[in-house]
Amino acid sequence: MHFHIQMKKYTTVTLSAQCILLFLLLSYQQHLSTASENAANKIYIVYMGERKHGDPSLVVDSHHNVLATVLGTSKETAADSIIYHYKHGFSGFATSLTDSQAKIMAEMPGVVDVMPKMVHKLHTTRSWDYLGLSFSHATNNPYPKSNMGDGIIVGVIDSGIRPESESFRDKGLGPIPSRWKGECMGGDQFKSTHCNRKLIGARWFAKGVEDKINTTVAMEYLSPRDANGHGTHTASTAVGSLVRDVSFKGLAQGTVRGGAPRARLAVYKACWDLPGNAGHCTNVDVLKAVDEAIRDGVDLLSLSIAGDGNIIDPVDIMLLHAVAKGITVVCGAGNDGPRLHTVGHIVPWIITVAASTMDRSFPSAIMLGNNRTIMGQSLFTGDKETGNCEDIVPDSRMKGKVVLCFASASDPNIANAIQGVKNIRSSGAVGSIIAIYRTVLISYYEWQCITVDYDLGAQILSYTRSSRKPMVKLNPTKTFVGKAVSTKIAGFSSRGPSMLSPGILKPDVAAPGVNILAAYVPKEKNSYQSFAFDSGTSMACPHVSGIVVLLKVLHPNWSPAAIRSALATTASTTDPSGETIFTVEDPQTVANPFHFGSGIVNPNRAADPGLIYDMGMTDYVHYLCSMGYSKSYSHFSVCPNKKPSILNLNLPSITIPNLSGSVTVIRTVTNVGPVESTYVASIEHPLGVKVGVKPPELAFNSTVKTLSFTVTLSSNHKAIGGYYFGRLSWSDGIHKVTSPISVRTEIIPSYTDGFY
Ligand SMILES: *[C@@H]1O[C@H](CO)[C@@H](O)[C@H](O)[C@H]1NC(C)=O
Ligand SMILES: *[C@@H]1O[C@H](CO)[C@@H](O)[C@H](O)[C@H]1NC(C)=O
Ligand SMILES: *[C@@H]1O[C@H](CO)[C@@H](O)[C@H](O)[C@H]1NC(C)=O
Ligand SMILES: *[C@@H]1O[C@H](CO)[C@@H](O)[C@H](O)[C@H]1NC(C)=O
Repeated sequence: MHFHIQMKKYTTVTLSAQCILLFLLLSYQQHLSTASENAANKIYIVYMGERKHGDPSLVVDSHHNVLATVLGTSKETAADSIIYHYKHGFSGFATSLTDSQAKIMAEMPGVVDVMPKMVHKLHTTRSWDYLGLSFSHATNNPYPKSNMGDGIIVGVIDSGIRPESESFRDKGLGPIPSRWKGECMGGDQFKSTHCNRKLIGARWFAKGVEDKINTTVAMEYLSPRDANGHGTHTASTAVGSLVRDVSFKGLAQGTVRGGAPRARLAVYKACWDLPGNAGHCTNVDVLKAVDEAIRDGVDLLSLSIAGDGNIIDPVDIMLLHAVAKGITVVCGAGNDGPRLHTVGHIVPWIITVAASTMDRSFPSAIMLGNNRTIMGQSLFTGDKETGNCEDIVPDSRMKGKVVLCFASASDPNIANAIQGVKNIRSSGAVGSIIAIYRTVLISYYEWQCITVDYDLGAQILSYTRSSRKPMVKLNPTKTFVGKAVSTKIAGFSSRGPSMLSPGILKPDVAAPGVNILAAYVPKEKNSYQSFAFDSGTSMACPHVSGIVVLLKVLHPNWSPAAIRSALATTASTTDPSGETIFTVEDPQTVANPFHFGSGIVNPNRAADPGLIYDMGMTDYVHYLCSMGYSKSYSHFSVCPNKKPSILNLNLPSITIPNLSGSVTVIRTVTNVGPVESTYVASIEHPLGVKVGVKPPELAFNSTVKTLSFTVTLSSNHKAIGGYYFGRLSWSDGIHKVTSPISVRTEIIPSYTDGFY
């Protein structure tokens, strides 16, 4: 039997509270343990900053020199023990060291940081219509000129690619951009001829996991070929070519396409299915992928790989080398919601994406014996045996029954619930109804597993208790599209504020990430499985990547920060029909910036934002300085003597984690709309917080393109502190440039310096 569990398939590694503290300590001590000494070799990444030579062979030579010195061996022996050289986007190498060698290495001239190997996890159709993205020449549509993203090269670092998928056909595409320097690496069941004018590059990096790959236990290919399906799914969501008439057994019928169907794709496989451990990516391999992608000439990088909100992730810091070269980096926020402080990829140079539902659902009617019908959700299409769905029995004697169970409200991980469903199924039950605090789909494609919220679950339970012979009929699912289904932020979507730098709003924006139909790797010989549903911030991330491609065509000179600003200041805080957006886990909670950042991306408005909040390397270095990285990362630029305030980073959002009394922050906007424009500020005040903007009006002309303003926030709170939300909008009557304001008011001065 084929099981397919969509939810939480790609989770981040969760560290215990103790580990978090430990790791913070480590990152300040160059990641090296001062406690127990360990003579065994471990893999470390030795990071040497910006490359010092234009010629990669000189970069490699400098690696051999430093390693030979530390190991006390010849350069040749040192060369043999290097696992990877990072030599294109930045300088560094991966090698095995003992703890004491690693400590010596950290003190070597030219060595910026020494980091241990770590593991990261990997975390249609309707979605683009939902976002209002069309390439037709209808009035006010900005995208016909984008030529569907042609000419832009998207690098996807993930689990590889299924090159046969129709989503990667190159029909109608022109030649490969001449600036492309990448290659198509062969390997197991993958030949360089699998690349074409759509899939223009494919590389694979397995040295971080090689000894653990066991193809007899977990299907894998030592090549760019995707065994997992995740990489094929995310790549086709971002840039998949148009494939008509796709559905999942009749559900969600339509044309499957990526956001930028004519963009070119370069695949970097760094995530592997290991025995008992699917979607396993080490920083050693991911960094090599980043290094090569910078050299190859990608225009943006899409990483649906978990970050870690508990640390400033070294991979995220290395991605600054890509951003420095104008490459936009888009990542998913993570699947650790709905708890607060779970968001990953918290650095300001990455666009971090939360996941929302959209206006499509797959309702299944649950008909009870008392003639009441309750609507749940499932992906059951009824074309396999349904058995006699008759009795509801709470937990025992499941054979032939439909089982109702309640998922724990306190456990934010539904893996246990899924295990429960597996047990129900293997006991011979014909179906199950799961009451769960977030009514996302748990998809068993060929089995009836319907989720309902607790209220409905309680109603079914009360019926089973009131009836001597309770009966239920589960009906096959139908696709349902339209306004009646309101948009919600997915319960699994990781939430802000960021634990380590709460002054920076994360996630940045939200995009659809629930039940996305896209290309997949058939797990059985059933052709319908070439397309499949999947859910996660992994699916939301490539939606934003696709939109970024189109923005890059329309605005080739915009920086990664300008692109993020355009997406954020134009995002929607209501769904397309104007309805308020709530959260899945609590239908009474209105979504706030910690759920969806600035809101759900609106590609049409993002193409013409009016004003942008731009940032460059100086701003990013100020961030590193204010986070205490002044010494290690001085190669990016020298920190100013006075520690800059993180609150003044030129983000398209204002986040004050500790307001007691009043604080003034500064922002600078650049006019990218009509040359002569006057913008007027308007404020939605957070409850009990006064917000003043100076000046309240900004006048741009042919000489004045950029203007700064200050925002002063003062709290009236006397008794209770907490987070309050508001908005600042600049409008010229046509454009509306909106920033969310998040303020945590404090009564007692904080001694915790932002760590709480
Ligand atoms: C793969 O796993 C199987 C089953 O655990 C084991 O017998 C076999 O030796 C492993 N192969 C390799 C190459 O490790
Ligand atoms: C449910 O409806 C059926 C047919 O409409 C009817 O025969 C039956 O009596 C009803 N049962 C209850 C409990 O109302
Ligand atoms: C633009 O505005 C500035 C400030 O108001 C003014 O000094 C300048 O003369 C204006 N430039 C033009 C070309 O109108
Ligand atoms: C408030 O938070 C900001 C940003 O984290 C920090 O720079 C500042 O020192 C904090 N101020 C106090 C009084 O804690």
